[in-house]
Amino acid sequence: MEGATEMQHNSLALKYTASTEYAKDAAGMEVPYVSQDPQQTATVVRGLDESTKKGRGRGGFSARKTKYSVDGSPTGITVDSWRFQESDYKRRDLPTYARGLFTTRTQNNVPEIAIRGYDKFFNINEVRETAWEHIMERTKGPYELSLKENGCIIFISGLEDDTLLVCSKHSTGERNDASASHAKVGERHIERQLERLGKTKQDLARELRKRNATAVAELCDDSFEEHILAYGPDNAGLYLHGININIPEFMTYPSPIVQKFAEDWGFIKTGLIMIDDINEVKAFLEEVAETGAHDGRDVEGFVIRCKMTSSPDGAGPYQDWFFKYKFEEPYLMFRQWREATKALISGKQFKLRKHVKITEEYLLYARQRLAADRTLGKAYQQNHGIIKLRNDFLAHKNLRGSDAANLEDLGGAPTVTRDVILVPIATIGCGKTTIGLALTSLFGWGHIQNDNITGPKRPPRFTKALLDQLDEYPAVFADRNNAMRHERKQLLTDVKMQHTTARLVALNFVHSDIDAIRQVTQDRVLARGDNHQTIQAATDMGKVVGIMEGFIQRFESCNPEREPDAGFDAVIDLDPTAGSRENLEIVIKELHRQYPSFVKEIPSAEDMDLAIQAALDGYKPDLRHNIPDRSKKTPNNKQQHQQQQAAEKPKKKKALEYMSVDLPTKDILTALEKTFSVASLAPAKSRFFKQLQGTRRVQPKFHVTLMHRASAKEHPDLWQRYAFLQDTDGAIHPDGRLGDLGVQLERVVFDDRIMAVVVRLVPASQEDENVNAGNPALPAKPKWECVNRVAHVTVGTRDDAVKPKESNDLLARWLEQGSGEKTGIGELLIEGKPLVKGVVRGVLSR
Ligand code: GTP
Ligand code: MG
Repeated sequence: MEGATEMQHNSLALKYTASTEYAKDAAGMEVPYVSQDPQQTATVVRGLDESTKKGRGRGGFSARKTKYSVDGSPTGITVDSWRFQESDYKRRDLPTYARGLFTTRTQNNVPEIAIRGYDKFFNINEVRETAWEHIMERTKGPYELSLKENGCIIFISGLEDDTLLVCSKHSTGERNDASASHAKVGERHIERQLERLGKTKQDLARELRKRNATAVAELCDDSFEEHILAYGPDNAGLYLHGININIPEFMTYPSPIVQKFAEDWGFIKTGLIMIDDINEVKAFLEEVAETGAHDGRDVEGFVIRCKMTSSPDGAGPYQDWFFKYKFEEPYLMFRQWREATKALISGKQFKLRKHVKITEEYLLYARQRLAADRTLGKAYQQNHGIIKLRNDFLAHKNLRGSDAANLEDLGGAPTVTRDVILVPIATIGCGKTTIGLALTSLFGWGHIQNDNITGPKRPPRFTKALLDQLDEYPAVFADRNNAMRHERKQLLTDVKMQHTTARLVALNFVHSDIDAIRQVTQDRVLARGDNHQTIQAATDMGKVVGIMEGFIQRFESCNPEREPDAGFDAVIDLDPTAGSRENLEIVIKELHRQYPSFVKEIPSAEDMDLAIQAALDGYKPDLRHNIPDRSKKTPNNKQQHQQQQAAEKPKKKKALEYMSVDLPTKDILTALEKTFSVASLAPAKSRFFKQLQGTRRVQPKFHVTLMHRASAKEHPDLWQRYAFLQDTDGAIHPDGRLGDLGVQLERVVFDDRIMAVVVRLVPASQEDENVNAGNPALPAKPKWECVNRVAHVTVGTRDDAVKPKESNDLLARWLEQGSGEKTGIGELLIEGKPLVKGVVRGVLSR
């Protein structure tokens, strides 16, 4: 870091209550306690407020403020959320370093801190304070280690009117579109956990308020949706990991007290390792880094809590302080070696992403060793001898691990000097065009905006335009959102087919804090007004917010471990909520690191400032699209027609009626016939099936309905996703195939009116299991979801008066009342539960 001065917090933040005060909780346990000083709070708020007005001038910091009204507050309390740019946290002059901060005013107009997150903490060696020497010199134990969490953070506190305030990092309340926000999902968990204890939200609000504290928890909930049949252990919920005092400086409870609080209030406890001696902490972390696993699972890293002083001579006070230890090179390379070796032993394919040359050499060596000693492979599979094999190789090469990880892939792969395509993975307003313009002005690269391409068959024409640019320029910026996997797949395959040496680099705008992203991008796009080809926010705000939301909902995270994203030559992670200036620098530095012969040097900070400023100031599109508004039919007069010809040609399109999984007729009939021809079956049980057969009322074709247009209102996001897939993939594939989906036939359920097969949907690939697999912070979301209570195939109905959709009513009764004589519902298991191959297709209205 520039001017790596020690990060002493400014005077205000360090006007630290010299001696920690304590209070006793109900059970007589001593807990840290400090009351709020309204003067001090006012000073902090004033400092933050002024910075928002100043803007991000040279050298200044700038907080962003957002007002929220608090759901359920009887007195109508509002809170302000404050956030800084990530890089600001490395400054020394912030009024507070709380990451996650909400303030409010009491009825008597006294300023108050409502929510106080942890102080921003840094990775080992990321700043001077987190160098080991510093840590050894200035911190004291006990050191509390917890696994770096993967959920999303939730803050909880109590307001003046006893309302429980529940927030995610930067927001609270519902989203505009009524879909679940992280804060709301968190709140529902709290309601449930308190209910189990016979306590109320008010009780918790009062308790936290009495303590002047914010409870900090991790929301871990695989799925925000409810499923009829819940599979797997019930371990979703709020993992409490900290309790902070609501004051500007950072003061947090020791973990044992946090754990006690978790018990008392129904939170799940966060796992904890306590170590007193810093040398042991270091040894422990290095050992985990070495093996890449702890407790049998891969971990990303640890958060370590302790106390730190700025005057190591022992005079100064100690303050609560965190740092993190993320596992990095060479350990990530070693992990790749481990996985590649296992793949080698079991004869599987393994795609090398980084350190290709040295890893290939290692694998050659490993292969020889494994061939020479048969017992080695077996032991390796059981995690024995991993480190030894690796060290033997390094010794054989006379290399240290860190040197091996630093080796450029020079010898093997040709040096990259040109033909780079930069591919954003983003949603609207992430700053793609801004960064693209800045890059083109700094390096003289090409830039193709998908928004400037009109008419039919845009994807292949977009690809062609990009490749044409490579004839002229060393690189091109592929300015399109590429939010969905199939769009990335299209681009990657089309490019690689036509240009074998082009490198595709993903600029991955990581979508983890969706609330914050929504906020930042909406603010930007609304401020941009009509200065855009497609998105004219000043003209139609409501529509624009809807379109933006659609992109966010359809967004499928980048997962470089799997296809299609494994096809990228490199992936650069960016934070959409960070400024474009910051992201520009990350892109340039990463390109320089990975392809030093391509981006030979990093431009000066001033040049980057200017390039971004010019992009922010200058850009006005030459083109304007008319997006046909699907909700309204536009009259097709001549003038408008011509205008539209210049832009997007609107095609008269049939609307999607339902999303179907088509099944092979033969497989279903065979399963049914087998089920009903079991010798021991009572004749009564097969009567209705025989009747259907005899009256030719068994359907000629079978399908599972994933979702019908009729439930679009209930599931707007999913419907939008399906309609979009149909418009894009559906229009490209000649047979309309959108994907494959396994369908397992479980049982036949029927009464004397209708018969259905209850099925289970089995994703055809790992990617289909969870389109968010690349981003653990997002809830798991299968590609093909069925919104019916019970996924099923209708076999047939008694006569035309009984509509196939009545299967839903039958199955609802069956779920509630079961089968048997009393209910008049028959049920037969299908032997062997055959798995049949389904094809997903959109069925259009007639
Ligand atoms: P679409 O083309 O609509 O998908 O958006 P995009 O990803 O290309 O975003 P764009 O670069 O157009 O940025 C959206 C708006 O935010 C523009 O008006 C930009 O000028 C503005 N903008 C981009 N980066 C920043 C930033 O760092 N700070 C601020 N305040 N505004 C920014
Ligand atoms: Mg753009």
